[in-house]
Amino acid sequence: MSVPLTSPNIIIALDGPAGSGKSTTARRVAEALGYVYIDTGAMYRAITLAALREERSITNSDLLPIVKEYQLQLTISPDGQRTILGREDVTEEIRSPEVTKLVSAVSALPSVREAMSKRQREMGKNGGVVMDGRDIGTVVFPEAELKIFLIASLEERAKRRLAELKDSSVSLEEMCKQISERDKQDTERLVSPLRKADDAVEIDTSALSIDAQTERILALARERIAAKRG
Ligand code: DC
Repeated sequence: MSVPLTSPNIIIALDGPAGSGKSTTARRVAEALGYVYIDTGAMYRAITLAALREERSITNSDLLPIVKEYQLQLTISPDGQRTILGREDVTEEIRSPEVTKLVSAVSALPSVREAMSKRQREMGKNGGVVMDGRDIGTVVFPEAELKIFLIASLEERAKRRLAELKDSSVSLEEMCKQISERDKQDTERLVSPLRKADDAVEIDTSALSIDAQTERILALARERIAAKRG
């Protein structure tokens, strides 16, 4: 029996700030390796959406019941990951500006982080995953075989977000302000702040095409898979 090229399965942790190119790259890398792509930001966004709908204040005690009660599932469909909250598909709604504005505050809460990290460890424990987030290489899977930290200039990240939003009422300056506010919250929070793991490979995507960054990560992944195979 032939052994697939991607066997044994490894864990690929892909961290970086908003707009650094994580999700597109992670999806492509996962596809090429036949791995599962897990967007952990979607989990924090879903909890934020539930908190907004229930008009909760953003505190540990107010959000703990939400984290405990809501069934949160990430499912795979032909057009990518879907986020299911209870029985409702909230994949599109979790990208709303209201959720985006509040999600950094929600994700800074220890009760939320603890519950999400636990679920993420469960989802990735058998390997064969590309997981993107802020703390995957540092906290969720510090033992991941490959850790990538993506960065890009603030202006480039803002331009990418604007292109995704397709909303011409938001200026580049305003988007830069919003992203740098999220950067500040994500890097300065006390629990699992956004930071590069010591053994992560940093890639600046400011001037790289999606194809080029995907190829670089794939080359590293194939090396690590071969090393694990021994
Ligand atoms: O990647 P994103 O923009 O969808 O992430 C939304 C927010 O969730 C982000 O501002 C920080 C938080 N997050 C986190 O704290 N840890 C993760 N592993 C993923 C996201």
